[in-house]
Amino acid sequence: MQKLVIMDDPVLRQTARPVSDFTSPALRVLSETMLAVMRHEHGVGLAAPQIGVSLRMIVYELSEEIERDGQTISMIPTTILVNPSFTPLSDDKAVGWEGCLSIPGYRGRVERWLHIRYSAQDLNGNVITGDAHGFHSRIIQHETDHLNGILYIDKSIEIEEIIQKRSE
Ligand code: NI
Repeated sequence: MQKLVIMDDPVLRQTARPVSDFTSPALRVLSETMLAVMRHEHGVGLAAPQIGVSLRMIVYELSEEIERDGQTISMIPTTILVNPSFTPLSDDKAVGWEGCLSIPGYRGRVERWLHIRYSAQDLNGNVITGDAHGFHSRIIQHETDHLNGILYIDKSIEIEEIIQKRSE
């Protein structure tokens, strides 16, 4: 299994390069590796720099309904976004808890845009766009930040350690 890159690794602070070659099979392999690592680590999203690849690709999925910040979050289908960008659809923001697979053991409250319109490319280079709200919107913003060398702890208004329950 490909190793996750943890907080102090410089690749997490680099601006990732745009993907320009959509003919290389390596792109699909990268997306499959990212999904495998994300699922293995029980994450909901992952950016390529988190496995040491400084390219603009993010993946995410929410395979079951969850409770977060007192709200029920619906499932989100498996999504691969290449060269993603977004613009807010309103001035509304929301504060919510986030974690990051590259910062194990912590979580933080972060203010994000509530509604965004995103634009990206799929693995074939076709342009895809969509609107995202709430937690879905938060994931895209968190993962896109990774492509610009930004971690949630840079923006968090409160960070706390997660007390791990040990099973012995
Ligand atoms: Ni993260």
